[in-house]
Formats: sequence, structure tokens, C-alpha cells
Amino acid sequence: MENFDYNYMEASKKTILITGGAGFIGNHVIRFFLQKYDTYHIVNGDKLTYAGNLENLKDVESSPNYSFEKLDIVDLEAVKAIWEKYNITDVIHLAAESHVDRSIENPAAFIETNVIGTANLLAVANEKWGSGDHRFYHVSTDEVYGSLGETGFFTEETPYDPRSPYSASKASSDHLVRAYFHTFELPIVISNCSNNYGPYQFPEKLIPLMINNIINRKPLPVYGDGTNVRDWLWVEDHASAIDVIFHKGKLGETYNIGGENELQNIELVHMLCDIVDEKLGRPSGDAKSSIKFVTDRKGHDHRYAIDASKIIKQLNWKPTIQPREGLEKTVDWYLEHSDWLNNITSGDYKQYYEKFYTH
Ligand code: NAD
Ligand code: TYD
Repeated sequence: MENFDYNYMEASKKTILITGGAGFIGNHVIRFFLQKYDTYHIVNGDKLTYAGNLENLKDVESSPNYSFEKLDIVDLEAVKAIWEKYNITDVIHLAAESHVDRSIENPAAFIETNVIGTANLLAVANEKWGSGDHRFYHVSTDEVYGSLGETGFFTEETPYDPRSPYSASKASSDHLVRAYFHTFELPIVISNCSNNYGPYQFPEKLIPLMINNIINRKPLPVYGDGTNVRDWLWVEDHASAIDVIFHKGKLGETYNIGGENELQNIELVHMLCDIVDEKLGRPSGDAKSSIKFVTDRKGHDHRYAIDASKIIKQLNWKPTIQPREGLEKTVDWYLEHSDWLNNITSGDYKQYYEKFYTH
């Protein structure tokens, strides 16, 4: 609360609760909004789970229009208290349990945060907001649509077919958000995005895990035969998409966000091996020799691919960074932030890693 300035708040047009702002995508969204809008007050409400890290926001934490509140969205009274303390006018909801492998181990945590937590935010928004200018923006994933074969794309009309506890919990939260629009006319928008990558991603996800393991000459665990396909989006492009949808998206609508950058996992891992070897001055092929094909993920979705034409045509958004450039920038960031990576991968991470990867 040290940074909270009531004079500033009176002058501001919006007080936006960004949930999960200390996580990977959240910190980029907060930075984007703070840099672009000096008339907004951003309240970062985050429980600081293993995935939330205030180090991610060190460069912006002293901004006069930024406040942090440790908030568990599963606690309804705590959500109400934050609403009342700041008179929240808008929400950008990112807080979630987000890792598929963890959802296979412990689905309950996903149902609590992703379903109950979202339900709490909706209930409080519906109770507190009258007919003024408000917006409840729910950030979701393309994984709600299920798994594609070799062809086709997810559109906003693709029927939901979630197949992991993570994607089922996100699908459930999407349905609740839409239900509040239809039943209570709550002013909502939803976006469903493909896989993000870039700085500050926790090294349980494919790209930072591989970078960390290549740097440390550890085995590179590729699930199954490595032919699963993901569409990769530079995280700052996701933040810019969230900006346009928050401001220009039509109430009640869903927007798919994607990078139009499909890669098989093995292709991506090969690219990372080449980039890191080159940057560390290691011989060509050095990292690739550590690739290990390991037992496949249970229920592993084969392919995700997004048709992003709605947001591109209607809201004039497009991704700016292609994968080779984005992966180079990502590797540079992790190499330059070895302290961040070392802090993150000590303690709990070691136990997590041993449990999942020591077969
Ligand atoms: P993340 O796991 O890096 O961060 C999640 C954040 O939420 C953390 O800061 C964590 O502390 C916080 N959090 C968790 N439980 C909470 C609770 N009960 N109360 C308050 N805060 C809590 O996730 P991310 O990758 O930044 O994803 C953010 C959102 O974007 C999620 O909703 C996710 O489903 C969605 N999304 C992610 C991707 C991706 O590739 N990472 C793609 C599409 C959509
Ligand atoms: P991940 O980053 O967990 O994202 P998601 O499962 O939400 O798409 O995984 C991306 C892909 O990489 C997915 O097909 C699973 C695969 N993968 C591996 O092959 N090895 C790993 O160690 C991890 C974490 C993921």
C-alpha cells in the first residue's frame, strides 16, 4: 500500500484489478498498461503461489499508479475487501493454476482457483457494479477447444472439448463468465490464446525448461515422439492483444489470439539447442545429444492451432515477432537473468523436477 496515492486515484479513469499479475503473462500485461496508461490505477491481486514472483515486477513496483495486494481469489471475503478498498472499476483476470502436468497430479487445485476463484470474482463484480462503464475481461486458453489432427484451426465457434483437468477447469470458468453475461448482463469479454513464450516464464513450461536444461547440460525430456504441435505467441504480443480487446472488444464476445507459428515440439527443441549452443560458443550438435524421448503425458493433446482472423480483422491486431527472433530474444533474456533463473530453480522447483522427471 505504500505506493497508493488517493489524489491520483480520484483523477484516474479506471481502477483495474489484474489478478495473477505476478505470474508470467500477468507481469507483462501490468508493465504494458502502466507504460501506456498513466490515468489508470493497476491493482495486482496475486496469491503468490510457486508461479507468482514479485521479482518479475521490480522495475515497475514503485510506480505511483500501481499497488500490490496478496489475494487468494478462492477467498470470497478477501475479494470483496479488495473491491471495497480500491473501488475496482474493471477486471483483467489472469490468475490461474496453469500447468497441465500439475493438473494431472492434482486436479483439485485447478478446480479451486480456476473455477471457484473465477466464480467469486464474477459474484463480486455482479454485486458491486451498477450500470456504469465497467469491464470484466477473462483471459483463457485455446486448450478449451481440445485437440486437432494434422489439419484445421480453432475458431471462436469451435465446440469446447477440454481433455485435461487444466483445460476442463478453464472451460468451466469460460462458461461461467458467459453465463454472467447472458443472465446478469455483466459486461464481459473473453480471449482464448495459444502458447505464450518470452521472459519471466516459470521453467516448468517447455521453452524455459529446455533453455535451463541446455545451459546446465541436463537431459532434455521430450514427451512421446515429439510430434505434438503448438502455436507459439510472443508474450508481449499477447499483452498488446489484451490491450485492444480490453478497450475495443465487443461485450459478450470471444476473441481467439494466436501467433500463426506452429511448430512440432521436436522442431522447437532443435531450434533452442542450436540457439543456446551458438550463444554459449559450444560445438554445433552439443545440446541435441542430450535430447531424451520420455514417457508421453497422459491424454497429451496432439495439436493446437488458432484461427486469429477475428481479432486481426475486427480489432486490427497482429503478432509482431516471428519464432526464430522471439526464441533468440528469449534465450538472451534467460542468459542475462541467471540470478532470476537460479533463484526460481532452487527449493521447491528441485522437488517438483525430481518428482516429474525421475522415472
Ligand atoms: P502463471 O502460472 O505463470 O501465473 C499464474 C499467476 O496466478 C501466479 O502469479 C499465481 O501466483 C497466481 N495465482 C494462482 N492461484 C491464485 C489464486 N488462488 N489467487 C490469486 N492468484 C493466484 O500463468 P500464466 O502463464 O501467466 O497464465 C496466465 C493466464 O493466462 C492463465 O489464466 C492461463 O490460463 C492463461 N493462458 C496462459 C497461456 C500460456 O501459454 N502461459 C496461454 C493461454 C492462456
Ligand atoms: P507446456 O509448455 O507444458 O504447454 P501446454 O501443455 O500447455 O501446451 O508444453 C508444451 C508442449 O511441450 C506439450 O506438447 C508438452 C511438451 N513438453 C515436453 O515434451 N517436455 C516437457 O518437459 C514439457 C514441460 C512439455
